[in-house]
Amino acid sequence: MALRIGDTVPNFTQKSTEGEINFHEWAGDSWVVLFSHPADFTPVCTTELGTVAKLKPEFDKRNVKVLALSVDDVDSHKGWIGDINETQNTSVNYPILADPDRTVSDLYDMIHPNANNTLTVRSVFIIDPQKKLRLTFTYPASTGRNFEEILRVIDSLQLTDNYSVATPADWKEGEDVVIVPSLKDPDVLKEKFPKGYEEVKPYLRMTPQPNK
Ligand code: BEZ
Repeated sequence: MALRIGDTVPNFTQKSTEGEINFHEWAGDSWVVLFSHPADFTPVCTTELGTVAKLKPEFDKRNVKVLALSVDDVDSHKGWIGDINETQNTSVNYPILADPDRTVSDLYDMIHPNANNTLTVRSVFIIDPQKKLRLTFTYPASTGRNFEEILRVIDSLQLTDNYSVATPADWKEGEDVVIVPSLKDPDVLKEKFPKGYEEVKPYLRMTPQPNK
């Protein structure tokens, strides 16, 4: 069955371009973005992996490890990394899992047979330090993903965990956020939101982003 938000993600041990990875051990106390792509030496994937390499400092700042995957083997990945570095003006600085036996692709339901019987689709899994799945989405092979959006979601999730706030539609860093509906006690609200809040409706309370 497909993984759902809140599930504990399955562990696996698989080869990567940076050696064998036991996923739960490798993740440690970090957040993880695990993302699959259809195949090595393909154009959209080449741009995606270059983009993620350039954004690595942004993932590091948020305590997030990134891990790519396709069904090709380690030798193929290593050959392709040369092309990514050359064409995208970067240096791939995170591991790419090799999954020719589909261990991970099957565990994480990354092959959608009605799209393609053998290649992984563009799956994304954001996993928290407790190994719980916090977001998943799937893009078709022909559409490259927006990794700035993935960072935006991580910011939102970390704000919720740390400050009991949610983020409204199209929220961007620095804009006002929403107090989670479960917080109702006026004393707690006063303590948690010293900058104050605006009660637009009893269920819609806006407050400045707490960590700004
Ligand atoms: C690509 O990465 O460019 C790609 C892969 C499979 C199908 C279409 C595009």
